[in-house]
Amino acid sequence: MTNNMFFIANWKMFGDLKSINSTKKVIKFSKIKKYRKAQIVYCPPFTLINQFSKITKNSNIKIGGQNCHQNLKPGPFTGNVNSNLLKLAGAKFVILGHSESRASGDTNHLINLKIKSALKNNLKVILCIGETLSEKKRKKTNKIIKSQLVNCLKNVKKNKNIIFAYEPVWSIGTGIIPEVENLKKQILTIKNMILQLWKLKNPKVLYGGSVSSKNIDELKKITFINGFLIGGASQKANNFIDIIKKTII
Ligand code: PGA
Repeated sequence: MTNNMFFIANWKMFGDLKSINSTKKVIKFSKIKKYRKAQIVYCPPFTLINQFSKITKNSNIKIGGQNCHQNLKPGPFTGNVNSNLLKLAGAKFVILGHSESRASGDTNHLINLKIKSALKNNLKVILCIGETLSEKKRKKTNKIIKSQLVNCLKNVKKNKNIIFAYEPVWSIGTGIIPEVENLKKQILTIKNMILQLWKLKNPKVLYGGSVSSKNIDELKKITFINGFLIGGASQKANNFIDIIKKTII
């Protein structure tokens, strides 16, 4: 396990100005020598990105958006934020293809366009992939993941600015995580798929779905995992710190 693992905090549609204050604890923690190489990224709701960027300015913590519009240029797209606006607000990362965004209409094709626009604006992309429970039951996991990878990465050149997050949909917010042996195999399979598709050696693949300070000891047994995408457990500073502490020993 390396100490430059990613810890992506996905705050979804949670958080307020007060909760930004609680992250001061995490900022302080991130400056401890032992944890300085941990790649902590906060992805708050759009409206908090700017404040987050300001508060984390003198630290290694980076900020990301949770989605973006595919258009590079400004335009009449009510309710949307593109990668350029994210960048202007201080974001360096963007989560794309999250199952909650897929559920509200993001197709692989749309995600592909979003990836291209984010990369053009020099944002690092956290591309989420993963199967639903029914797909898992029908033993379609690898087929689904492969089609997500192939279609989301269509005409996207091999690129170190894309980080992958394996997020089985049945794990998100349910408290259920995959058996570690199965997860190990799945992450290896994904790394191999990316190698075949893109000839990219050692792609960064994270795991996301109900990661907590209670199950992190189990999850970190997967020594070649590159980090975690953390939803619920990232909202409380102490829980988030605990996860990082337990991972980087
Ligand atoms: P969770 O969310 O940790 O609350 O399961 C993870 C995610 O949606 O990225």
